[in-house]
Amino acid sequence: MQRKIHILVIPYPLQGHINPMLQLSKRLASKGPRVTFIATSRISKSIQAHESTSINFETISDGSEEVQDLETIDEKLKRFKSKVSQDLPKLIEKHNSSKYPPKFLVYDSILPWALNVARQSGLDGAPFFTQSCVVNAIYYHAHQGTLQMPLEEGSSISLPSIPSLGINDMPSIFRDMESYPGELNVMVNQFSNFQEANWLLCNTFDELEDEVINWMTSRWHFKTIGPAIPSIYLDKRLEDDKEYGLNLFKPSMDTCMKWLETKKIGSVVYISFGSMAALGEEQMVEITSGLKNSNCYFLWVVRESECKKLPSNFLQEIVEKGLVVSWCPQLEVLAHKAIGCFMTHCGWNSTLEALSLGVPMIAMPQWMDQTTNAKYIMDVWKVGVRIKVDEKGIVTKEEIELCIREVIGGDRGKEMKRNLMKWMELAKEAVDKDGSSDKNIDEFVAKISHS
Ligand code: UDX
Repeated sequence: MQRKIHILVIPYPLQGHINPMLQLSKRLASKGPRVTFIATSRISKSIQAHESTSINFETISDGSEEVQDLETIDEKLKRFKSKVSQDLPKLIEKHNSSKYPPKFLVYDSILPWALNVARQSGLDGAPFFTQSCVVNAIYYHAHQGTLQMPLEEGSSISLPSIPSLGINDMPSIFRDMESYPGELNVMVNQFSNFQEANWLLCNTFDELEDEVINWMTSRWHFKTIGPAIPSIYLDKRLEDDKEYGLNLFKPSMDTCMKWLETKKIGSVVYISFGSMAALGEEQMVEITSGLKNSNCYFLWVVRESECKKLPSNFLQEIVEKGLVVSWCPQLEVLAHKAIGCFMTHCGWNSTLEALSLGVPMIAMPQWMDQTTNAKYIMDVWKVGVRIKVDEKGIVTKEEIELCIREVIGGDRGKEMKRNLMKWMELAKEAVDKDGSSDKNIDEFVAKISHS
């Protein structure tokens, strides 16, 4: 009998990267391979709570235990690389003498050096791109020099198989290159050695970004595997796959769900800006006023580090209308019938979740890929409105109130709901048996098993 192939998977330890990597791991394991998810120090504390039996967990150090000061992205990645490059080969070595010697490493695409680490230990490897295909294609063009930088104010950007983009539709780090040199470098460097990898995996699905995906697949072994969301919300084929299962923040599960139970269908605005974005105090105050003036019920995730920016009396003032929590079970919330719209920073996971669960969006992108996701949400997929910023870069309370009224109960909201029906169906089909992502995962597993 042929032995199970053993695939190692290493995410970058941020919530928005861990979640899709866990889902890819579960999908791979469902096809037969043994899958080991490598939780580096920062995540390891959270895995005890993970009850999935389909994948295995191993812990190695990423050096974060020793970090005293705030690090820049460059410093973080340097430390991560230095520690993981030492400890990952030891982990592989340990498994080499076990029943299942590892054969393959799937690594986050922002860790391109992991391919060398894998190959030096006798494994093959593939990057997993956790952002959209269009955003990755833009970074590819930046790497190749086919995107002229810096971008000129007012210019429109034409790239192959991508609709014409304004400067505000590009990933924000191109508009503001001097403020984020480290981040730009990391994103563009995803393409530093990608041609050496035999596979490129991406969290998207063919129908969602068909033209640019065709462009990528006609050139490289680029494979869509998404949406990487728990199976219960899509094809329901993976047993017990009801949640991502690894939270870096503690969700207020019961409080949120009990509160939502008391609300009418489609009446609640859900607001979250993901795990990283930090808003200015002035912006937070505008949001509080916009929400109050809309007179809608709202559930707002304000992370602990952001709480101090709320006006002092806000929480007392809104007890009748709103619930503020520091983290929530986002998928369960989005799937709840009381939710009428999602005011989102347009992180790629949040975008795919809303699209797959049929929730119209108010797109309020903050930085990085979110600006491009917002463009697609409004103009390509037509499942949301993009909120306007004023000349100071602030979204005003009037604009917030207007967008909520348009989406909850307005004609635009109804049209978005109709469009969402189509996307929900296509997302489900992609991961269901013989769907495009399902076939790609089958092909990937079959080929790496026999190579
Ligand atoms: C970031 C980037 O914004 C994103 O665009 C990139 O592709 C990955 O890294 P983040 O800002 O955290 O991630 O946003 P997002 O991609 O939306 O991921 C957040 C995840 O946390 C989602 O899967 C969401 O379901 C989850 N979440 C968020 C919760 O479970 N509870 C919450 O209260 C908020």
